[in-house]
Amino acid sequence: MRHVRRVLDLSREEILHLLSRALELKKRMKSGIPHRPLVGRVMALIFEKPSTRTRVSFEAGMQRLGGTTIFLSRNDLQLARGEPLSDTARVLSRYVHAIVVRTFGQEVVEELARYAEVPVINGLSDKHHPCQAMSDVMTVIEKKGDIRHLKVAWVGDGNNVAHSWMEMAARLGFELWLACPEGYDPDPDILNEVLKIAEKPIRIVRDPQKAVKDADVINTDVWASMGQEEEAEERRRIFAPYQVNAELLRHAKPDAIVLHCLPAHRGEEITEEVLEGPQSVVWDQAENKMWLHMALLEWLLR
Ligand code: CP
Ligand code: NVA
Repeated sequence: MRHVRRVLDLSREEILHLLSRALELKKRMKSGIPHRPLVGRVMALIFEKPSTRTRVSFEAGMQRLGGTTIFLSRNDLQLARGEPLSDTARVLSRYVHAIVVRTFGQEVVEELARYAEVPVINGLSDKHHPCQAMSDVMTVIEKKGDIRHLKVAWVGDGNNVAHSWMEMAARLGFELWLACPEGYDPDPDILNEVLKIAEKPIRIVRDPQKAVKDADVINTDVWASMGQEEEAEERRRIFAPYQVNAELLRHAKPDAIVLHCLPAHRGEEITEEVLEGPQSVVWDQAENKMWLHMALLEWLLR
């Protein structure tokens, strides 16, 4: 039984399998070939933060594969009244075949996984967003082919999505440059871990132009993540030089693609012009979350 608490829970071969399977499922199922290997399987989703893409793509993906889902906010569970995570995990394991969790602390994901008798999938914590980075890389491969020959730039906060991208870079062996303002670097423990296994450079710089120079892929995310709302104003000031705009794009390769996991704040981390422009792949990127989740569920629950 396997958990996906973070990208590093998976081997390179397992990630490559999921990426190619997701692309295959997308092609096959869009051409109308039915595929329902998960009939009779039930998945619970425990979400302590809002979600459009992750929730709906996991639920829709599970249902397209023949399974069913139960969505639970924290307030729906006795967790809200203090029942321990360990008890919740063991009880839910008797009813469902997998649990997706979106929460604040990574320790919640770890604790659920420790006690669950079914796979636990991290659907975003403050530290990691593994399924996001996997479907993002799927989108890069779909658009550009083998990612190992590409330079990827991350512009902005060294946050949960950035951490999962760093782990993808280490596992798959591609070059990743992160431009973050001082004080907003990725977690040093995660950085040390990925540097130990990375075959290609993973570099943190202050200058966004340096990070995107000749890049094939430019990736950004909100300046204030969920739970950081009270820092939003200060962050808007500090991150202002880190906006992904047409001027910054000029330093990348002319055919570079722009990713954003969404939701986007137009005029903050990305301009309307770039988000809606010809280099943006954000809608395909959002769609691919569903196909990647389907490949993951098929693999975990087969
Ligand atoms: N990208 C992403 O995880 O979006 P949601 O917050 O809508 O799930
Ligand atoms: N870093 C963002 C990602 C949202 C999908 C957040 O945690 O709010």
